[in-house]
Amino acid sequence: MLVSAKEMLSKAKAGKYAVGQFNINNLEWTKAILNTAQELNSPVILGVSEGAGKYMCGYKTVVGMVKGMIEEMGITVPVALHLDHGSYEGAKACIAAGFSSVMFDGSHYPIEENIAKTKELVGICDELGLSLEAEVGAIGGEEDGVIGSGEVADPKECKMIADLGVTMLAAGIGNIHGKYPENWAGLSFDTLDAIQQLTGTMPLVLHGGTGIPAEMIKKAISLGVSKINVNTECQLAFAAATREYVEAGKDLQGKGFDPRKLLAPGYEAIKATVKEKMELFGSVGKA
Ligand code: 13P
Repeated sequence: MLVSAKEMLSKAKAGKYAVGQFNINNLEWTKAILNTAQELNSPVILGVSEGAGKYMCGYKTVVGMVKGMIEEMGITVPVALHLDHGSYEGAKACIAAGFSSVMFDGSHYPIEENIAKTKELVGICDELGLSLEAEVGAIGGEEDGVIGSGEVADPKECKMIADLGVTMLAAGIGNIHGKYPENWAGLSFDTLDAIQQLTGTMPLVLHGGTGIPAEMIKKAISLGVSKINVNTECQLAFAAATREYVEAGKDLQGKGFDPRKLLAPGYEAIKATVKEKMELFGSVGKA
């Protein structure tokens, strides 16, 4: 069932576990994530960045693929189809295309503009029964080889955005997209605690899930994180498994060049990564 992320995340917040958002890139990714969620009876959020949306031939194609898979694969666990780090225009386009959830990332705007744009989208999403994620405090990452340390959000600004009626809130707490540098300072739990004290029952979102040690993930969940985004880790697992297959010369044996065979190890590697994360996040059996 394609559903908004609202119910699954309020249950997660109350039950002190987190639902994984796994970003999709193509059919194999989507099939691997949906099959794993179903096998583990876990709710799941499929994340689509604007770049991945373009790569997959547009948001309508993505909606068609995901809805078709849910029906034809007999997926009965709750699935949210969510725009990741959307622009204002991207959020509107995904809403029109049939996404069940969107993120509007206004963290790079001055707070007043972030508030104004988020507020408008809250109205639209409420009317349509969609979930909306907002962001305060930009999340760092590698850009042109320069690694940012990850911003730390102002808890008061988080409260201002949460009060607009968004469904879930992403806040920078020193987290970074992609691999973490050797000298990473770790998550700022003091900031997370301050944000959760001010925002109460609002499900908080932890971006940059790749490479955060298990103990930090558990602590973040205990402090109100109910949604954790993972992207790079599935890509690394897929690439490593595919490399192993090719380096072993398996694509040259028999019909090993058949894409259904060539992409199978990568598919299994994504499944294993998603399973490991769902177990760590505590969402297994919570569908
Ligand atoms: P990673 O690629 O670091 O796992 O981050 C994913 C993410 O936060 C998507 O919004």
